[in-house]
Amino acid sequence: MTTAILLENIHASATARLGEAGLKVERRSGALAGDELRQVLASHDLVGIRSATHLRGDDIRSAPDLLSIGCFCIGTSQVDLDAATAAGIPVFNAPFSNTRSVAELVVSEAVMLLRKIPEKNALAHAGKWAKGASGAFEARGKTIAIVGYGNIGSQVGVLAESMGMRVVYYDVLARLSLGSARAAGTLEEAVSQADVVTLHVPATARTRNMIDAHVLAQFKPGAILINASRGTVVDIDALAAALRDKRLGGAAIDVFPEEPKTNNDPFVSPLQQLPNVLLTPHIGGSTEEAQENIGTEVAAKLLNFLNTGGTIGAVNFPEVDPGPLHAPARLLNIHSNAPGALAALNTLLAQDGVNINGQHLQTRGHTGYVVTDLDRAPSDALMESLRTHAGFVRSRLLVR
Ligand code: NAI
Repeated sequence: MTTAILLENIHASATARLGEAGLKVERRSGALAGDELRQVLASHDLVGIRSATHLRGDDIRSAPDLLSIGCFCIGTSQVDLDAATAAGIPVFNAPFSNTRSVAELVVSEAVMLLRKIPEKNALAHAGKWAKGASGAFEARGKTIAIVGYGNIGSQVGVLAESMGMRVVYYDVLARLSLGSARAAGTLEEAVSQADVVTLHVPATARTRNMIDAHVLAQFKPGAILINASRGTVVDIDALAAALRDKRLGGAAIDVFPEEPKTNNDPFVSPLQQLPNVLLTPHIGGSTEEAQENIGTEVAAKLLNFLNTGGTIGAVNFPEVDPGPLHAPARLLNIHSNAPGALAALNTLLAQDGVNINGQHLQTRGHTGYVVTDLDRAPSDALMESLRTHAGFVRSRLLVR
């Protein structure tokens, strides 16, 4: 029976999905390390982790029968991906499960900041009554500039437009405009016409300090900045200066150049104590729904690999989508990407008298992955020779 171990309180949706597919699923609430981790890796076919379990090269190499790793989160830097690839183990994650959560937060923060709610809320808690309309605006009719019009940025645009905002976006790639959104030719063109600027770019060398003192100087007086992308994108000291000088009307910042590693570490930022500034601890995508989506999405990717050999969505592996198994048998072969590997495999199959019904090959870096549908299961002797063949990393057989 195929078994999975899910660590770090992964959402119950994953357990349900894997359980329905007939797997025996074991759960642990915390992260594991050292011998305890190696023990569970060695005794299960699949492992599910979140960000706190580190799978180092030695851990991965200590589990020769581990089939796949599921990162039930967005990031995969906690896994030694090169070691996983070299061991023939695809790693899956859920990069887009929390898109909607971020988009909702951003649009609601825009409303809160346009109404100066952070400072009015603080005053009310302090027993002060700040009733008044001055400096408070509706979102309707205002312009939102979306910097990075990808998965999250484009959803922010749809939500903002449904509230009557004008949407302009800036992206380095040509993107399909949703609704009435308009593309701006430059970053400056986008930010200079906006009442609200929201950032949805990845952390790259090019986006590092993309919003610096020079760009902030192009913002409309009183404009609002929202950053729920990555902390490196904004020059935080320049932003603090613009807020202190009241050149900007407010900001909502979810991500910081330096973030505490755990909830027990202190958080310090030059933006603290500034009025009309919402500071949140990198929770843009952190909702129950996102966790549930992540559970379902990663479980589905693991099951797809288990049952069909498909590796679509793997972060470290050649991506192959062979579809459901209709042939009597399917051979999954991972090999070093070198001349002759495919020929060697096909020769061995021919020598065993097995006919090939179909074949899908993909390579990535040093790794080749070939999925071969066969008219019958190869002999045990052939499977053994595949497993010991120089240059072949792994061979797994699916039988209908
Ligand atoms: P995506 O990859 O779908 O979209 C990013 C867009 O930015 C793409 O359209 C890309 O062409 C564009 N882009 C890249 N470099 C650019 C540049 N120099 N100038 C203008 N546009 C540029 O990414 P997605 O999923 O929309 O995520 C956006 C950001 O949100 C990422 O940084 C991600 O890490 C972050 N994020 C934050 C979360 C949170 O909890 N606060 C949760 C999820 C994602």
